[in-house]
Amino acid sequence: MEKKITLDLSKSQISEDSILKFQSRAKDIHKKLHSGEEAYTGWVDYGVDLSEELISKIEKTAQDIRKECTAFVILGIGGSYLGARACIDMLGNTFHNQIKSETPKIYYAGHNMSSAYYLELLKVLEGEDVTVCVISKSGTTIETSVAFAIFKEFLRDKYKDSFADRIIAITDIEKGVLRPEAEKNGYRTFEVPDSVGGRYSVITPVGLLPIAVAGIDIRQIIGGNRHAYKMYENADLKDNDAYRYGVARYLLNTELGKDIECYEFYETKLKNLTEWMKQLFGESEGKCGQGLFPVTVEMTTELHSMGQYLQEGQQIFAETVLNIENTGAHISIPQELGYDSSWTMEKLNSIIAEGVIQAHRQENMTPTIQINIKDLTAHTFGFMIYFFEKACAMCCYLRDIDPFDQPGVEKYKANVRQIIKKG
Ligand code: PA5
Repeated sequence: MEKKITLDLSKSQISEDSILKFQSRAKDIHKKLHSGEEAYTGWVDYGVDLSEELISKIEKTAQDIRKECTAFVILGIGGSYLGARACIDMLGNTFHNQIKSETPKIYYAGHNMSSAYYLELLKVLEGEDVTVCVISKSGTTIETSVAFAIFKEFLRDKYKDSFADRIIAITDIEKGVLRPEAEKNGYRTFEVPDSVGGRYSVITPVGLLPIAVAGIDIRQIIGGNRHAYKMYENADLKDNDAYRYGVARYLLNTELGKDIECYEFYETKLKNLTEWMKQLFGESEGKCGQGLFPVTVEMTTELHSMGQYLQEGQQIFAETVLNIENTGAHISIPQELGYDSSWTMEKLNSIIAEGVIQAHRQENMTPTIQINIKDLTAHTFGFMIYFFEKACAMCCYLRDIDPFDQPGVEKYKANVRQIIKKG
């Protein structure tokens, strides 16, 4: 079976022995994760069990949306939108909204409370045929609820009595307020599986519907996810790179004393993938006074800002470099700069990455993990999502932390509700 991801720990300062010491814990954790008895572990085999009926329904709805609108707006926050955005940015054209295309323009809302953002977006949408997809498992998240209310008003003004035909709701099958509203008004709906939490829900309708609307082949993504399931179905720490990465993250903190993990990427298309990773690891692991604080560093852009700190600042971090082996995009460097015709931007980019890793290691011995990703394809995207989810579950369980709840987030939500109630 071909590996779509390879893990290089040779510059991590973590020895093979340190990893293998966790073999017996890894075995227990693997068993627990696959037992089907732990809350919110439905994602473990959700992709494998996805029915042909649901895949076809997603594809059919996406096809209808692509025909009916020129602009598709995704409303959601955190796990309800980041996975789809990561995929669409990684596989789609960066300038999609500015070019002529059969695929609707894609916009996002519900992920901030910026009045300016909403006013500007609504203005842009005035001349478009708009379909809105609201995604909220709970149906009560304040940012998404406000965005949805604003967009319903916009759609009512534009489409009068048929506004409900312009709405798709992805929410819990029975909990929350969105489901009864959807049923009453006849919105098209999909279900967020009860056993899958927001940040683990990319390979469910939450991620798959918007991804399909963007014209990406979701069967390839599901295929990649199933491929990774098979690849990481064993608990062998000599072999299972997802678990090895989970253990390595744990050791970066507990053995090497690092507090921060910098996700560094040299391919701009990975920007929102690393945002999704930041959420996955940060929200899953940051509990009980523990966890590596995940940050993202966009290269080579930030070599000219954070590069200085990384090289000579406080050595409180480890670096995890996401390296794309074949981006599929090649642009030659004009020879007037003195490069011969063999030089492409991709080649120069990887040489810069190598130079940076070397410099950081020479000066201060920063531990560096390299994650080599085969290519920028839908299959690899589906594979990668599963890799990171499994790695994340492993490092959380090693800390005896529940990877699937977010009690801290609930605290701010409760406070906001309380303040609003008090007027
Ligand atoms: O991972 C999570 O559970 C969170 O990031 C949620 O996805 C986010 O808070 C949005 O929640 P909801 O889908 O209920 O609106």
